[in-house]
Amino acid sequence: MLTRQKVDHARLDRLLDRLPAVTGEEQQELLNRICRLVFSHAFAEEAVLWPVLRRALPDGEELTTRVELEHQEITELMAGLERSRPGDPDRPTLLERSVVVLRHDVRDEEDVLLPRLQDAVSTTTLRRLGVAWELVRRAAPTRAHPLVARRPPGNAVAAVPLSLIDRTRDGLDYAGRRSHATTGRVLRVASRRLADLAGHVERVRLTQRGERLETHVGTHGQP
Ligand SMILES: [Fe+2]
Ligand SMILES: [Fe+2]
Repeated sequence: MLTRQKVDHARLDRLLDRLPAVTGEEQQELLNRICRLVFSHAFAEEAVLWPVLRRALPDGEELTTRVELEHQEITELMAGLERSRPGDPDRPTLLERSVVVLRHDVRDEEDVLLPRLQDAVSTTTLRRLGVAWELVRRAAPTRAHPLVARRPPGNAVAAVPLSLIDRTRDGLDYAGRRSHATTGRVLRVASRRLADLAGHVERVRLTQRGERLETHVGTHGQP
């Protein structure tokens, strides 16, 4: 499980290293790749690993809340970046802060949470958790959904519709970037319609259930 996590963290590190050197469309493409890696990865942590940590450790609640706050901040930052366009004045600040929080989250997990999880459960359980994490990660949403709960049952309810929408959008956006102008425009409009649909799914109260109040305080002011 630790190896699987470290492989993803190393991939993220390489993508973040490239970020300062790119601009315009290239920057947007790199950000899309970072989102696809980060959000499915974090979703699977919150759905599979952190509930086990909360049950296994006396300070599990405190530890996982800290990381969920980091994940929430990354989600908000990436949602802000998705709304902005290259050249917007607040974009460099959003980018800089995203890199800082992403790297901090990796350190928290590799230095604290994952070693604590490793000590708390048997090797067999750890291996099973690694497989479950991988399976969930492959089917998880790939975009920022700031209103969805970072805990069950809300995140579990949101997973299927949002993953379908996100992965369809990933395909449409990819095809749109490689199509002629008119087709590209049609595909981009279709992708935006799906983004609106994802916004409606996020507003269904059931997808927000299970959230700790503090995870959203100062951001949306709602649980
Ligand atoms: Fe991680
Ligand atoms: Fe994480």
